[in-house]
Amino acid sequence: MNARGRFISMEGPEGSGKTTQCARLARRLLAAGREVVALREPGGTPLGEAIRSLLQHDAAGERMAPEAETLLFLASRAHLSGQVVRPALERGAWVVCDRFFDSTIAYQGFGRGCDVEEVIRVNEFAVGGLRPDLTVLLDIDVAAGFDRLAGRNASAGTGNDRFEREDRGFHERVRAGYLELARRWPERIWTIDGSRNADALERDIWSRVAHEFGI
Ligand SMILES: Nc1ncnc2c1ncn2[C@@H]1O[C@H](COP(=O)(O)OP(=O)(O)OP(=O)(O)O)[C@@H](O)[C@H]1O
Ligand SMILES: [Mg+2]
Repeated sequence: MNARGRFISMEGPEGSGKTTQCARLARRLLAAGREVVALREPGGTPLGEAIRSLLQHDAAGERMAPEAETLLFLASRAHLSGQVVRPALERGAWVVCDRFFDSTIAYQGFGRGCDVEEVIRVNEFAVGGLRPDLTVLLDIDVAAGFDRLAGRNASAGTGNDRFEREDRGFHERVRAGYLELARRWPERIWTIDGSRNADALERDIWSRVAHEFGI
């Protein structure tokens, strides 16, 4: 049994399969006898969930300043990192996080147009040097991701959230931004084709994780 905890984040555009693959990876790790802490961002703590609902619903119809949006995400992340992620890793647990700091760079930096280097710097301030050991980037064509969401929202009876309602150009910038981050940090970010079926993706992700971390 590996004593050291590992931190894996799942990233990608809307509908790329992050939540699906996080759940499957967590199941595989549990079956391999690891303690697993599965988190989602923003969220994962009561404060984080409160921030999540602030970010997803703009009931007053007020457009949020991109900087305010960025800082709300970072407030949630700073709290989650200190309260949950670090303690879990210190006791040897595996942390599987549905989105982490690359999301803010892709959405608020590349998507909204905040200065990317500045977003990276405030992100660093929020997490204090905490880094995923591995980030799985599920890359998918924007339209294909939205087709999946339409199916999910129809079966769950939910509407589109504030980000899902953004225009196509925004989501194309997010996708391109993610791919740029993968080129910038190739040792951490592993890009896979998220358009494949969920079972094949689960197998590939598991074989990479098992091989890289010696499970
Ligand atoms: N590989 C896949 N092939 C086809 N459909 C998939 C695949 N993975 C997930 N789905 C379906 O697509 C929808 C979106 O998947 P999921 O919720 O996992 O994506 P997500 O990346 O977490 O989305 P969001 O960006 O909204 O959080 C769900 O209905 C899910 O069942
Ligand atoms: Mg999701």
